[in-house]
Amino acid sequence: MKQARRLLGVLTGLFALVILADPVAAQSSVNEELIFGLNRKLLYVAVPITVLVEGILIYTVYRFRDNDDPKPTQENRRLEITWTVATAIILLFVGLASYQVLGSPFIGGATATAGDGSQANLMELSYDYPGAKGPADPDEAVQVEVDAMKYQWQFNHQNPGGQNVGETGTLVIPEGRTVYLHVTSQDWLHAVHVPGLGLKQDAFPGQYNTIVTKATERGSYQLYCAEYCGVGHSNMLGTVEVVSQEEYQQYLQENSGSGGNSSGGNSSGNASGNASGNASLVAA
Ligand code: CUA
Repeated sequence: MKQARRLLGVLTGLFALVILADPVAAQSSVNEELIFGLNRKLLYVAVPITVLVEGILIYTVYRFRDNDDPKPTQENRRLEITWTVATAIILLFVGLASYQVLGSPFIGGATATAGDGSQANLMELSYDYPGAKGPADPDEAVQVEVDAMKYQWQFNHQNPGGQNVGETGTLVIPEGRTVYLHVTSQDWLHAVHVPGLGLKQDAFPGQYNTIVTKATERGSYQLYCAEYCGVGHSNMLGTVEVVSQEEYQQYLQENSGSGGNSSGGNSSGNASGNASGNASLVAA
């Protein structure tokens, strides 16, 4: 028994070392934080169980190696109750931890029942993208239509108080703000996948699948198409640029054609924005 305890002690020590040595990587988005947080939680439960089971196994094999007359354990009620309750507790923990993460709109998408009550703020229509689920108040979050087509990505930004901004290949989003990505397709099945931000969603023609994110680290992230869609699939790439909120506002202004400050966002502002936008298109 002494040996078993020593063995367990050594294994537990090793495990503690692994945990202490594990540097908690900087999280790039709320989505990624949720996913990796759950992964880590489950790992911290799974590793001690593995160590315990393997430890007992190794100990038993060693301890009884010369036993010619083994006697199996029979009718041990205490033992049975213990492992039933322990298993139930572990499964409950796994279930609750997973449900918490899946219930978040950042993981379950805009249609998930949010624990923080943000479901209440969702409207059936996001006014620029009919049928998409988004926040009722356009100032509440950034909204972008992610439009897949053979073999490229088009990103259409809602720009309250100005002309909407479209760009191919690069998705610019602000750091620290909730972003709704309304994913759809022009032709057939594609899927948007940004592993660095923990984002993945199918793109179907004729419907919006909305995912929600909040990036917490500026930088450039690779975007892939994650659904085989034809000969150009492997080249159907894009980039997500996470910039500061000021840079994002600047980006919208510079690309909406209005080129100036948003003057209240009334109809005359929109009209001049459209006109100058068209003019610059003609000039180009
Ligand atoms: Cu689009 Cu694969």
